[in-house]
Amino acid sequence: MKKQGVKKTMLIILCSLGTVILAAFLFLLLISGIFLPRHYLEPWNKNYALKFDDPRIQLAAYGLLAANGHNMQPWKIRLDKSDPRIFYLYADSRRMTNEVDPYARQMMVSQGTFLAYMQVAGEKIGYRTDISLFPDGAYDEKNLSTSMDTKPVAKITLGKTGPQQSPLYSALFVPDTNRGPYKADRLTAAQTGRLESLSEPDVSVKVYQDQADVARLNDYAMKSAVVESGVKRVMDESAAIFRANEYQKNKYRYGFSVEGQGTSGIMVHLLQGLVTLFPSMNSGKAASDLFVKSTQASVDSTPAYIMIQTKDNRRESQVKSGLIYSRLILEAGHLGLAVQPLSQALEEYPEMKKLYNGIHRDYAADGSTIQMLVRIGKPDQNVPQTMRRDVTDLIMKN
Ligand SMILES: Cc1cc2nc3c(=O)[nH]c(=O)nc-3n(C[C@H](O)[C@H](O)[C@H](O)COP(=O)(O)O)c2cc1C
Repeated sequence: MKKQGVKKTMLIILCSLGTVILAAFLFLLLISGIFLPRHYLEPWNKNYALKFDDPRIQLAAYGLLAANGHNMQPWKIRLDKSDPRIFYLYADSRRMTNEVDPYARQMMVSQGTFLAYMQVAGEKIGYRTDISLFPDGAYDEKNLSTSMDTKPVAKITLGKTGPQQSPLYSALFVPDTNRGPYKADRLTAAQTGRLESLSEPDVSVKVYQDQADVARLNDYAMKSAVVESGVKRVMDESAAIFRANEYQKNKYRYGFSVEGQGTSGIMVHLLQGLVTLFPSMNSGKAASDLFVKSTQASVDSTPAYIMIQTKDNRRESQVKSGLIYSRLILEAGHLGLAVQPLSQALEEYPEMKKLYNGIHRDYAADGSTIQMLVRIGKPDQNVPQTMRRDVTDLIMKN
């Protein structure tokens, strides 16, 4: 009799516990916004660009799928009113990340990534895209943000060619950055040759996969992540653009989210629910520790690195590096490889100076600038797509 009573009590406790856990689980999913439509992913749909009649807007809709620093999507488009073949790309000065990118170098690289995605899409939908960089002259570096607002990065002139086969087109729709683990396999000579052949006279692409180089570059990546994790203003800048849940992701459509770390499926919502409830999970010391830990995981599964270098560090060269970085991403995707930039040692804020000088002394002793340091390899897993704005937000009103 007594035993039965104990059993019944146990059962009631277990059932109540189960109900509480289930309720907590459902609560996390709800505050994550699991039932909301994901508008911020619409631009990844292959038919999205085709909704627009103007081919210039269509091309911009492909361009915004490109990789870009901090996912700020710092692009503005001005459509020429009198010539429907012409449009202009401007850097959006409101989208600078001044702490991590004080000279707006990554911002310029991100202009190039956009242009290359447009070019590849143009081939496929039947337009040649003639690009002239800084058509109204160079920026006034002393008034950089005003210059960005008034001087275009590129003038794009379309020429009708008719649709062509574009082997890289489908790679446009694959997430650009895979922060997950890569297999230990080194790149084959054919893969290396293909990627290095993206070099141009003043922009070089070089693969590093000797044990000594990989170890040295791992060391730069780790040391620079540790430095960055300790620079509060840089970490705060990233934390401020972290979107904790579906409500925020639909509202802003730029910045970082848990998908960026490769989280997918139901885990996205559990994590988002938790971060929404406990924002401290993703700021301050917790964010710094997570950043160092994830960099460690990245370098522990990196069979090779690629560097993009330019002879000088002019704005044109930075933009050209971005054009080549996008081609590299697409070519790598085509070859079954994935990439992730590890930019910290290349960043120009004072605390990074020693490592910046070190990596340039070791790999760019001729005075070149390393524009991109990127890990590359065969990924263990695919990663989800990340937020993108609606292309109409990029179009300037005047
Ligand atoms: C100039 C530049 C620098 C970047 N630096 C880093 C980096 O240091 N670490 C990283 O994980 N991703 C880096 N990225 C990748 C961006 O964070 C990524 O492109 C952006 O968040 C959009 O995500 P997606 O590429 O997956 O579409 C960089 C991209 C660019 C263009």
